Amino acid sequence: MVDMSTAVGRTELPNPVMTASGTAGHGGELGRYVPLASLGALVVKSLSIMAWEGNPGPRVVQLPGAMMNSVGLQGPGVAGWIAEELPELRASGARIVASIWGRTVEEYRQAAEALVPVQDDLTAVEINVSCPNIEDRRKMFAHSCESAAEVIHATEALEIPRWAKLSPNVSDIAEIAGAAGDAGADAVTLTNTLLGLVLDPATGRPVLGGGGGGVSGPAMRPVALRAVFDVAAAHPELPIVGVGGIADATDAVQYLRAGASAVQVGTATFADPRATQRVTRDLETWCETTGVVRLRDLIGTAHT
Ligand SMILES: Cc1cc2nc3c(=O)[nH]c(=O)nc-3n(C[C@H](O)[C@H](O)[C@H](O)COP(=O)(O)O)c2cc1C
Repeated sequence: MVDMSTAVGRTELPNPVMTASGTAGHGGELGRYVPLASLGALVVKSLSIMAWEGNPGPRVVQLPGAMMNSVGLQGPGVAGWIAEELPELRASGARIVASIWGRTVEEYRQAAEALVPVQDDLTAVEINVSCPNIEDRRKMFAHSCESAAEVIHATEALEIPRWAKLSPNVSDIAEIAGAAGDAGADAVTLTNTLLGLVLDPATGRPVLGGGGGGVSGPAMRPVALRAVFDVAAAHPELPIVGVGGIADATDAVQYLRAGASAVQVGTATFADPRATQRVTRDLETWCETTGVVRLRDLIGTAHT
């Protein structure tokens, strides 16, 4: 019997496999396929202070070993989510991780404050800083230490753990992760999608309605895995949640060995809605057959 429990900083989880934000809806949608309470945690799609329409279609395109999306953060807003989705999620018994985004530091502050009344229902809040800052030439908050830190500071009304979700499109992710940790993030989630573009060769126009998009899936796994490895090496005290291209248990093992305390499964869920459950089960089997008694013993072993 393997002890599959883990901890992301002060957050104890019965197993390390969560959904990735934006790939399992805002509410209980995935519950038709997976008992939500069996997940390490359910991370909901990022919410802003206001309801948001998102980008025009097409919103996704399939690529070799990957997909690219430009959903544009469509969502009901924090208040709409609390009214419409949270009751079902609460009833499911799932450990709920909310996720917030904003276009300005002030919008992050407002979204965080709007979650304060329901924070006892939440396990953690992911702060998705991989969003364009409209006050800084649309540069992503996660592309500068100062902006990332400012956003984390702005969300400090929340007393539950806050995880900073970072972008892989930076030259030194360890520096950004360190700034987020110093600003009060309990953990970093590594990583969001890679910036990408697909053009229609006939017209020269972007294939996706929003223009460029975010590349996810197995093709980005080495990039996100390296981000986890580099951040764990630079900041051994900063808990990490690893995400990017995890499709099976051996992918998850790589992230744990690189230094992630837990992992998230995103794109794989579109092909197989039970992917999280399969990865968890196969991870337990992998531990059994390789003689790992406590999953926690795997974490960071690539550094020893
Ligand atoms: C369709 C789609 C929507 C996403 N929406 C969000 C989002 O709202 N917030 C967020 O932080 N990440 C979002 N992501 C990024 C994922 O959470 C994850 O970081 C990324 O896809 C890499 O993991 P994967 O390869 O397992 O999908 C989205 C990804 C996809 C594919």
